Amino acid sequence: MYSSLQPLFTTIWLFAACWGQPLDGSSNQLGNHQPHSYRQACQASTSGNPLAGCPKNTLLVSQSHEKANFRTIQSAIDSLPHDDSSQTILILAGNYTEQLNITRPGPLTLLGETNHPRDAEQNQVNVLWAAATSQGIYTDNVFTSVMVVAPTLNASLTGYGPSGLSVPEDTPFGCRDFRTYNIDFRNVYADRSAGPSHALSFSRANGGFYYSGFYSYQDTVFVGKLGNAYFYSSVIAGQTDFIYGFGTGWFEGCDLILRGCGGGITAWKGTNTTYTNKFGAYIHNSTIQAANSSVAAAYQAKCALGRPWNSAHRSIFANTYEDTLITTSGYVLWSAPITNQTLMAEYNDFGPGFNVTGRRRYNYTVLLNDNEWDSYSSPKKVFLTPDGDAGQISWIDPTCGMI
Ligand SMILES: *[C@@H]1O[C@H](CO)[C@@H](O)[C@H](O)[C@H]1NC(C)=O
Ligand SMILES: *[C@@H]1O[C@H](CO)[C@@H](O)[C@H](O)[C@H]1NC(C)=O
Ligand SMILES: *[C@@H]1O[C@H](CO)[C@@H](O)[C@H](O)[C@H]1NC(C)=O
Ligand SMILES: *[C@@H]1O[C@H](CO)[C@@H](O)[C@H](O)[C@H]1NC(C)=O
Ligand SMILES: *[C@@H]1O[C@H](CO)[C@@H](O)[C@H](O)[C@H]1NC(C)=O
Ligand SMILES: *[C@@H]1O[C@H](CO)[C@@H](O)[C@H](O)[C@H]1NC(C)=O
Ligand SMILES: *[C@@H]1O[C@H](CO)[C@@H](O)[C@H](O)[C@H]1NC(C)=O
Ligand SMILES: *[C@@H]1O[C@H](CO)[C@@H](O)[C@H](O)[C@H]1NC(C)=O
Ligand SMILES: *[C@@H]1O[C@H](CO)[C@@H](O)[C@H](O)[C@H]1NC(C)=O
Repeated sequence: MYSSLQPLFTTIWLFAACWGQPLDGSSNQLGNHQPHSYRQACQASTSGNPLAGCPKNTLLVSQSHEKANFRTIQSAIDSLPHDDSSQTILILAGNYTEQLNITRPGPLTLLGETNHPRDAEQNQVNVLWAAATSQGIYTDNVFTSVMVVAPTLNASLTGYGPSGLSVPEDTPFGCRDFRTYNIDFRNVYADRSAGPSHALSFSRANGGFYYSGFYSYQDTVFVGKLGNAYFYSSVIAGQTDFIYGFGTGWFEGCDLILRGCGGGITAWKGTNTTYTNKFGAYIHNSTIQAANSSVAAAYQAKCALGRPWNSAHRSIFANTYEDTLITTSGYVLWSAPITNQTLMAEYNDFGPGFNVTGRRRYNYTVLLNDNEWDSYSSPKKVFLTPDGDAGQISWIDPTCGMI
């Protein structure tokens, strides 16, 4: 039966504004990620200088504005030095049909023009591409992606087999602090699953995606090997396995939009590293809803939370609302056996799609108790690094969420 409403929102959230300033008012240590409300001023539409209020040396991209340095986003990215400097790019409203590829190591922030910097639904910058593996012309899913963030091509490949491509050990780490605010990435190849069709491919890098949108139908967001990706108040819309990968993804206060069902929402593999890790997909304080009423009517109790891409699948939906599309078993099985390495879990979920009787009856879904959830319960606990340090999350905007 339906669970009763959980006492969800009891955590004390020092969540104020998500404007790019630290909560304690101290100066920001993140290069030119400027303190205090710069984002609002920089991103606001204006008839004057579009760069008013932006960090010094911000590059301007627009399809038509006379002051713009660049007409495409990738040409602005290509102009940046391949070094550790912090860089910001402001993108004015528009539909940009191009693929983006970020390999630089230094911090990079992409800002979308908006007067609604805390509402992804009102984003005015779309980056569009149309590609899917069903075209039969790509050797790897990565080539379908609207945006790729990874140091090398090999680091970004999905690869084949139970553990994917073995990325050469000497591959450098990629961007150590990548951010997008108020930008939508849309792979518009088809209006249904047509094979992998990435909006984002993110590997061997640290990144935060704020008030952003990721839209396709299948394999929409790929968090590849050694990818650390934090999503905040963002929209992820898809149909089949639309959050998948090897790395670590935390989705805080996001809207997961079901445009149909297939596979599951999540499909995860572990990554073979020599350090203890908590690779997986963590969906927290989010919602899972149908794209619209016709999808809702067609897919009652048919959509799965996830399925094991290999036996090291790990995902947790916590404090998350599930509408009527979620199937009574929660997760479903796939080809990989469930072992003691597999974790397909929920904690404190609620809404009509959360059926405890169904979960217990099929027994694929682990319902975590407080103690079990505690070892995963914040980004600090899951974004681990090779030297064993927990909590290396200075790349997450400290004003956006439970950091
Ligand atoms: C982008 O395309 C959509 C759909 O065609 C259109 O509604 C919107 O106005 C366009 N946005 C801009 C900023 O041109
Ligand atoms: C991204 O750019 C790098 C450097 O130019 C290149 O080696 C790589 O192939 C590109 N990735 C994709 C998926 O095209
Ligand atoms: C990248 O991976 C391919 C296999 O897909 C391999 O043949 C190639 O040598 C690798 N390249 C590098 C630079 O390691
Ligand atoms: C959960 O997410 C929503 C939507 O982003 C946000 O408004 C709310 O404050 C969050 N809950 C808590 C307890 O912060
Ligand atoms: C509902 O959403 C689906 C999936 O995105 C789409 O194909 C369909 O056109 C939408 N229907 C309406 C009535 O908007
Ligand atoms: C993991 O990688 C190590 C080397 O780093 C290798 O010895 C081991 O066989 C690999 N294990 C799997 C399951 O791929
Ligand atoms: C997990 O399963 C493997 C293989 O069956 C077994 O060797 C190992 O001891 C188990 N580990 C734990 C922690 O139960
Ligand atoms: C919950 O799951 C049980 C067991 O599968 C099923 O009998 C029941 O109808 C489900 N309840 C709802 C409201 O879907
Ligand atoms: C449910 O699965 C777990 C292992 O995942 C097992 O230990 C337990 O006995 C199962 N419970 C039932 C009722 O089958």
